[in-house]
Amino acid sequence: MPIDKTKMKVLLLEGVDKSAAEVFQKNGYTNIETISSAINDETLIEKLQDTTLLGIRSRTNLNEELISQAPNLLAIGCYCIGTNQVALQQAALKGVPVFNAPHSNTRSVAELVIGLTIMLMRNVFPKNAAAHEGKWLKDAKASHEVRGKVIGIVGYGHIGSQVSVLAESFGMQVVYYDIFTKLPLGNAKPLGSLEELLKVSDIVTLHVPEARDTKNMMNQEHLNMMKEGSCLINASRGSVVDITALKECMDKGKIKAAALDVFPQEPENASNIFESPMRGKPNVILTPHIAGSTLEAQRNIGIEVSQKLIYYSDRGSTEGAVNFPAINLPLHIGMHRILHIHQNIPGMLQQINKAIADEKSNVQSQYLLTNQEVGYVVLDIENKVSDNLRKTLRNIEGTIRMRVLY
Ligand SMILES: NC(=O)c1ccc[n+]([C@@H]2O[C@H](COP(=O)([O-])OP(=O)(O)OC[C@H]3O[C@@H](n4cnc5c(N)ncnc54)[C@H](O)[C@@H]3O)[C@@H](O)[C@H]2O)c1
Repeated sequence: MPIDKTKMKVLLLEGVDKSAAEVFQKNGYTNIETISSAINDETLIEKLQDTTLLGIRSRTNLNEELISQAPNLLAIGCYCIGTNQVALQQAALKGVPVFNAPHSNTRSVAELVIGLTIMLMRNVFPKNAAAHEGKWLKDAKASHEVRGKVIGIVGYGHIGSQVSVLAESFGMQVVYYDIFTKLPLGNAKPLGSLEELLKVSDIVTLHVPEARDTKNMMNQEHLNMMKEGSCLINASRGSVVDITALKECMDKGKIKAAALDVFPQEPENASNIFESPMRGKPNVILTPHIAGSTLEAQRNIGIEVSQKLIYYSDRGSTEGAVNFPAINLPLHIGMHRILHIHQNIPGMLQQINKAIADEKSNVQSQYLLTNQEVGYVVLDIENKVSDNLRKTLRNIEGTIRMRVLY
């Protein structure tokens, strides 16, 4: 008997995009509750009693206590990029994978970077600020076409490579630097070091993750290596640029203009004041961490996270989970699939296989993956899973959760 999806309760909080519920409906899930805001812990605990799939954004703090009070919870979807609002390790130990949508806003970021590139090279913002004050700066001073200019992309991942494609279509020469060997797209040219890139680029755009080796990557020394009169864009993470050093370089005129979307300190919400040494500088474009914030990205996030939750619920696939061993499984028609989540202790697989052998069932395929805390086994077997086998598998010491999918 396949799982009865109509009985599985999907709870979507914080006004996630309607595409999220639509994907569930298309896949046969009918018991869906959507709430347009975050809810208090007391109400959440009440709702969690029968929730199997939970969708949140960044305002729901799913701590250990809340997770422990959700007896039927199969998986959590964070309809956003970050997942630090969830007690990930505790969720894993309860057998609950957590999914997010880290790359649904790639295109949105890349498009804004191209827009900023043009605004910086044309010196639009100082002229805009002057016009607002009644000054008519109608001249070509410091205004350049982007065609033929060198754009240096630091970090050639999802966003960096999209920027590469778009920049090239504007006639720019693309060079990039990545710590890993990345296949160049179009005519983009990989360079061997950051230093090399900084020396040749008219505009430098940063697309690296936040990490120990990217903290203050653009420090005084590296900023000084940039070409005289060049521009800098940071839409990656605030920690990547030493903002005081950047201000100094800009005050000296070494760097002509900059566009910053991310900052070392960002206000937690709209009622907090945004403080930055860059405020009040007409040649610095400041945006409030919105490079990835578009309605299209929200829609893509809705689709991506719901699909991941459904793949897990329907097939057992944990591809893309942030706290769980990642397994992506093909469907094996005619077989019976068992999911076994357990503490990562020796001898589990042996006991699972013995239980199946004792039932004289043939294993058609078997997948096992572990991380530090959790082991995840998926078995496709020929015989229907008997009540006895279910019981034996559940009773193996160290079992966190056992499910039979079909
Ligand atoms: N401003 C926004 O709204 C917004 C939205 C989405 C993502 N981001 C940020 O953009 C950045 C890039 O995101 P992505 O999705 O392209 O990530 P990604 O993981 O796909 O790509 C990052 C690339 O950087 C490379 N890299 C890592 N360390 C490096 C180093 N020291 N030097 C050079 N290259 C290095 C990696 O090898 C990888 O190719 C991340 O910091 C992410 O948080 C910002």
